[in-house]
Amino acid sequence: MSLSIIVLAAGKGTRMKSELPKVLHKISGKPMLFHILEESKELSSNITVILSHKFNLVKDKLEENFKDLNIVKQDLKNYPGTGGALKNLKFIGDKVLVLNGDMPLVTSSTLKTLVESKADIAMTILELNNPTGYGRVVIENGFAKEIVEQKDCNKEQLNIKSVNAGVYCFSKDILENFVPKIDNKNAQNEYYLTDIIKMAVENGKRIEPIVVDEDEFMGVNSKIHLAQAENFMQSRIKNSLMAEGIIMRNPESIYIDSMAKFSGESILENGVTIEGDCEIISSHIKAYSVVEESIVKNSSIGPMAHIRPKSTITDSHIGNFVEVKKSTLNDVKAGHLSYLGDSKIDSGTNIGAGVITCNYDGKNKYQTKIGKNVFVGSDSQLVAPLTIEDNTMVAAGSTIIDDIPTGALAISRVKQKIVNGFFKKFFKGK
Ligand code: UD1
Ligand code: MG
Repeated sequence: MSLSIIVLAAGKGTRMKSELPKVLHKISGKPMLFHILEESKELSSNITVILSHKFNLVKDKLEENFKDLNIVKQDLKNYPGTGGALKNLKFIGDKVLVLNGDMPLVTSSTLKTLVESKADIAMTILELNNPTGYGRVVIENGFAKEIVEQKDCNKEQLNIKSVNAGVYCFSKDILENFVPKIDNKNAQNEYYLTDIIKMAVENGKRIEPIVVDEDEFMGVNSKIHLAQAENFMQSRIKNSLMAEGIIMRNPESIYIDSMAKFSGESILENGVTIEGDCEIISSHIKAYSVVEESIVKNSSIGPMAHIRPKSTITDSHIGNFVEVKKSTLNDVKAGHLSYLGDSKIDSGTNIGAGVITCNYDGKNKYQTKIGKNVFVGSDSQLVAPLTIEDNTMVAAGSTIIDDIPTGALAISRVKQKIVNGFFKKFFKGK
């Protein structure tokens, strides 16, 4: 049995009230459409994506991230609607799985059950207390008979709690026979893919309704749905990480992007954010710290530290209110209130409280290189470009503008002056 997949992503997404096309809105750091395409790839290498609204923008994003997609532009003006999306398509394979691009939570393992159905059409059903917004499914004797869109429902149909989740597996001949017959005689004057169900039933075909879970098959149509889908995805990501051995304190307060990778036994405290392509290996990320697109290995971070993109932190301790950006730290202690940007810091080095790498002169960014066993005293400013060699010391409160050779102490302070009896003189009579 050969399978092809069509993902519908051409719609305007009006209810999203957004300039950004709906399917590019992100769930756990990744556009909704990417999530569903990644799951699709598990089942078939023949994937067609239907686009139209902001065609070039979405197409470019897809091509940057996926190879071998068949991208088709829907004629939204003349053939609007989910049925319009399939007009003039050549269908490939014995079966065709049709998915909506606004369903970021769907997993390939559930889709597989649809593909394995013996019926002419297998379709997904959600049983919802609040069916608002979805097409209602008329079910008789265990088989689906018809889907009625909310705007076309009569009073009785509006009360139906079984709704169309919007994922179907068709045998190819069904699409070839009935897609050309879909019309636009409905409340929205759109071509509804859902009309195929009624036509197929009238032609003696059998439609198997497969009940699925909302936390996997919800459609995202508004920003409220976006937040709900995000919650579902976050629970899924965190539960799977905890199952793999990650400890989370108050997991509801933690946010982790879907691209983040974990290994070893790490601890994430409450309020932690792990964003983008991160790798966290056997580390302790303390409360309210943010790690973005970085590697953290055998280290403790925070509380309230900010690790910005392209940092690699190994065997190190990063304390509270320390910001690290595009830096490589290997066996380093930076315990308090520092900014370490565009730097490379080697083993045994201690960065005192309030140390700042001055990496930017208003035009360009420059590197700070700090060697092994360097003691950088508190509140020093290291003006880049700068190299501090091994086994050196920087006196507290120094502004360092020249490289420091091995073994040296660098000190740059105004000499302290003592004025005896000054206090009494100053506050005389007060
Ligand atoms: C659709 C179903 C509805 C179902 C719901 C599940 C129809 C007519 N209705 O409604 O029964 O309960 O999904 O979420 O199919 N799209 C196109 N071209 C278009 C219009 C839409 O590609 O002309 C794409 C959209 O980008 C989106 C998907 O199809 O990814 C669904 O479109 P949407 O407008 O969200 O359909 P619903 O009204 O939610
Ligand atoms: Mg929808």
